[in-house]
Amino acid sequence: MNFKIALLSGDGIGPEVTEESLKILDAVSKKYGHKFEFDYQDVGGISIDKHNTAITEEALSKCLESQAVLFGSVGGPKWDDPNSDVRPEDGILKLRKELDLFANIRPAKVYPALSNSSPLKKEILENVDFIIIRELTSGLYFGEPKKRWVEGNKRYAVDTLKYDEDEVRRVVKVGFEMARKREKKLHSLDKMNVMASSRLWREIAEEVSKDYPDVELIHMLADNAAMQIITNPSDFDVLVTENTFGDILSDEAAVIGGSMGMLPSASLSSIPGIIEDNSKPALYEPIHGSAPDIAGKGIANPIASILSTSMMLKWSFGLDQEAEEIENAVNTLIEKGVRTKDLSENDNFLTTNQMGDEIYKLIKSVSYTHLRAHETRGNLVCRLLLE
Ligand code: IPM
Ligand code: MN
Repeated sequence: MNFKIALLSGDGIGPEVTEESLKILDAVSKKYGHKFEFDYQDVGGISIDKHNTAITEEALSKCLESQAVLFGSVGGPKWDDPNSDVRPEDGILKLRKELDLFANIRPAKVYPALSNSSPLKKEILENVDFIIIRELTSGLYFGEPKKRWVEGNKRYAVDTLKYDEDEVRRVVKVGFEMARKREKKLHSLDKMNVMASSRLWREIAEEVSKDYPDVELIHMLADNAAMQIITNPSDFDVLVTENTFGDILSDEAAVIGGSMGMLPSASLSSIPGIIEDNSKPALYEPIHGSAPDIAGKGIANPIASILSTSMMLKWSFGLDQEAEEIENAVNTLIEKGVRTKDLSENDNFLTTNQMGDEIYKLIKSVSYTHLRAHETRGNLVCRLLLE
């Protein structure tokens, strides 16, 4: 089958890890005969440097024309001036909004073989496998007014946490659907003791739960959840929450597994047959950021990007077996003790490239023709099926 992917590798380690994902797609295409076609577009700091905006209208429309978007990361010290009018992060925020990616799925899985790398005690980590569903197109990130101003000699700023009931309903519904397929337990996180938006959130969650009598709904305050995630992480299965709460809690969840470099994410605008089906593509990205401190050193862990690619194969293209093969390859290597620097206790670790090679070899043992995402960026459409 043929698939068209918009590739936005962005800044920092984004291009390095995305390149390894291309390698894995190459293995999949060779093994299964699929054809992946890539449309390279700029996003974030590199786009600001080249086009004075974090994402161009053209890049946005190319994303809309694709079947899925594979994203790296954005940001870095070069573009961090707080007074700047353009910020790299605007690129991903605009994409989320334009593609209506309201449900951000962030699985937090602890690999038993990595428990030594976790800041938590081994006993706490047993059977930890949960999913955070973060609302991604509204809440504190997008509410208006959002601005800074000066009155007299005093500086002011405001952000607004606003939801309408439909925005809450659709994401909570995703939570129930996922919970139904898993352990039938959904934690809905809010701050209803303080915030009006949270009281609406809780009310809607209660209403939606009537359609899911088989799923247990547990309301929890988000600050309590932050504590429970490190003290009793195995109690959770599926969590659903507001944009900012989800941002903060998913970083916490990522690190209990040992490294942020392992966790993928999917951002969806529809789930066929469940949430209104539309033609907008989903976006897949590692949950780690651009990590400017290690960018260009060849030591970033590509697994989060590679697992995001696996999610793309499964959720956007329906290639379940191919996706599973990628996950199995990662599991096998992790169990065998193969490590990148972030997970290694000594100097015996693989580079970004070598880790990609190992996964590639496990999927298909043929030599890989090196493709450099950063060299081929632009409008170039690159066909991976070279044979
Ligand atoms: C994330 C990131 C983004 C966010 C940034 C890069 C805008 O931290 O995806 O979690 O805050 O949503
Ligand atoms: Mn974040």
